[in-house]
Amino acid sequence: MLSNSIKEATREAHLNLEKKVVQKMKAIRSDADYADFLKHFYTYFNQVEQAIAPYITAELLPDHAERRNSQYLKQDIQELGGDVNDLPAAQAPEINNTLQALGALYVMEGSIMGGPIIVKMLEKFGITKGVSFFSGYGEATGQMWAKFVAILNTQAHSLEEEALAIEAANATFSNFGEVFGEVSVA
Ligand code: HEM
Repeated sequence: MLSNSIKEATREAHLNLEKKVVQKMKAIRSDADYADFLKHFYTYFNQVEQAIAPYITAELLPDHAERRNSQYLKQDIQELGGDVNDLPAAQAPEINNTLQALGALYVMEGSIMGGPIIVKMLEKFGITKGVSFFSGYGEATGQMWAKFVAILNTQAHSLEEEALAIEAANATFSNFGEVFGEVSVA
């Protein structure tokens, strides 16, 4: 099943990105620092959303419009007193078909799973505002993930098709890491 193989094949990319994100979070001292951190998520998620939009139709994913998106990030940044001007450079991976789009969306939807951990870390740094993006779907997270995974699993009918989604997911992870620049992940 694609949901198993994509998880396995992106484990390392997830770990690498997670390390970078945690490293960046450790430098957060104020709402302004946090807003700046969120700008990295905003610019990248926004670009990936645009890249996948032609392929993620309402027919394929009926609840797409109700899912968390980069507008949550924009609201969070504004709640923190920031704005979405002067964004860091970001490059979405190349998306040319539905399987690649689903691979990229897998990364964005899956990131909701780490949200509660991120919210708790932020609390330790005294940050409690602007957390709607990382709060994800709250108690509905498991259910929303199960619905997405069920659809993901209907789309790949061969190892070649699985590979399209997996490669796009790995590129989505690694391109996101580049948005954070060179941070030491030792
Ligand atoms: C501090 C940063 C992060 C932490 C601590 C974290 C932690 C987690 C945890 C605990 C899970 C659930 C694993 C499981 O139940 O098997 C998860 C899943 C996942 N995370 Fe992260 N995460 C972080 C950042 C991210 C980011 C930035 C992304 C992508 C933009 C991401 C993408 C994913 C994906 C795709 C999954 C789903 C894996 C699967 O079940 O197939 N994570 N993460």
